[in-house]
Amino acid sequence: MKILCLGAAGFIGSHLTKRMLDEGHTIVAVDIYDDKITEFKDHERLTFIQQDIRRPDWDLERLVQDSDLVIDLIAYANPGLYIKLPMEVFRLNFTENLKIADACVKYKRRLIQFSTCEVYGRTLVTCANGGLKDPENPSYATFSEDTSEFILGPVEKHRWIYACAKQLLERVLHAQGLEKEFNYTIIRPFNFIGPKIDYLLDETDGIPRVFSFFMDALINGTQMKLVDGGQQRRCYTYIDDAIECIYRVVENPNGACDKQIFNIGSPDNEVSIRQLAEKMRDIYAEKFADPSVPLPEIVEVSADEFYGKGYEDSDRRIPDIRKAQKLLGWQPKWGLRDMLIDSMKYYVTEYMEVKKKRIDGEFMHDIVRHANAA
Ligand SMILES: NC(=O)c1ccc[n+]([C@@H]2O[C@H](COP(=O)([O-])OP(=O)(O)OC[C@H]3O[C@@H](n4cnc5c(N)ncnc54)[C@H](O)[C@@H]3O)[C@@H](O)[C@H]2O)c1
Repeated sequence: MKILCLGAAGFIGSHLTKRMLDEGHTIVAVDIYDDKITEFKDHERLTFIQQDIRRPDWDLERLVQDSDLVIDLIAYANPGLYIKLPMEVFRLNFTENLKIADACVKYKRRLIQFSTCEVYGRTLVTCANGGLKDPENPSYATFSEDTSEFILGPVEKHRWIYACAKQLLERVLHAQGLEKEFNYTIIRPFNFIGPKIDYLLDETDGIPRVFSFFMDALINGTQMKLVDGGQQRRCYTYIDDAIECIYRVVENPNGACDKQIFNIGSPDNEVSIRQLAEKMRDIYAEKFADPSVPLPEIVEVSADEFYGKGYEDSDRRIPDIRKAQKLLGWQPKWGLRDMLIDSMKYYVTEYMEVKKKRIDGEFMHDIVRHANAA
């Protein structure tokens, strides 16, 4: 197939593009940056287009028309940005993504749209004010694609603009699928980690997702900060497991993924953020640390202090993956300890070089400049 991959040089995009090239596909990759795909950027079946899709003059319609399949991974997926630049998050994650979906509808191209597990929001436990007999029952936190309710916080907690923008996009795709001859698949990732996940820039440039934040603290000996005590629980999913499932969605055996939504995650890898910090520190001490340098302390901070006003978090989320198991024969294999070791190894060995390149690209400054100009 000829595949248009938007956001191809991001964390998930870089791993997916590599896999699709290995499987023999021809890829047109669009991204602002290319530093995560440098090792295969010159591949004969890859065309890289360096493009900011917020600019009005890019060749979206022609690129969609020329493709057999469109994959859209472009988004701001960083909680620090939801708080700092909520309108810019809405604009990119909804308005600009909608233009891509509209082009797919117009030219009848199948679209794989990356959404998020954050659409599920919080669990019933947080709304029940202690009224549930067995709040620890995992069924309250296990989310299914086609039956679970979405519970998001109040408007003044503007962190939810990310989940809302993604949810609205999902609803538009669904409606387009009902009214038009439009085929799509929606993917809801549950906390993927692995090599090439976020960079940490500096204090003014937003805060990366939690694994990268802790990793940076370990490397630099700064504090590992637990927002609101680190009681929130997540199911971490290794990028290789995730790519295996996403690639099956790309292949779409017998149309199994037509107009479907898939959770992709590892339900058995549930851990609280506090436990994650402790596990990462233990592994770092065991495998990577210089024994003469003290390990960072784990401290608690309030969400207001860490992110600023408007933050609220999902308390717990476990993916129901029965649909991917049944329709795609997929099963995640990686356990938490092994995936942490593998991801941490990348940071310790390769990360600093790549990080420097990204800083030279002035990533965040570009976002802010564009937001201010709008
Ligand atoms: N990684 C996860 O665990 C996770 C969880 C939930 C949802 N998702 C979703 O999956 C998708 C990919 O996530 P990721 O982790 O790879 O994120 P990422 O930030 O690494 O990748 C996004 C890519 O989009 C590019 N991009 C951003 N703005 C752009 C613009 N204006 N023009 C062109 N390119 C632009 C970035 O440069 C980046 O390479 C996103 O839609 C995200 O919301 C990911």
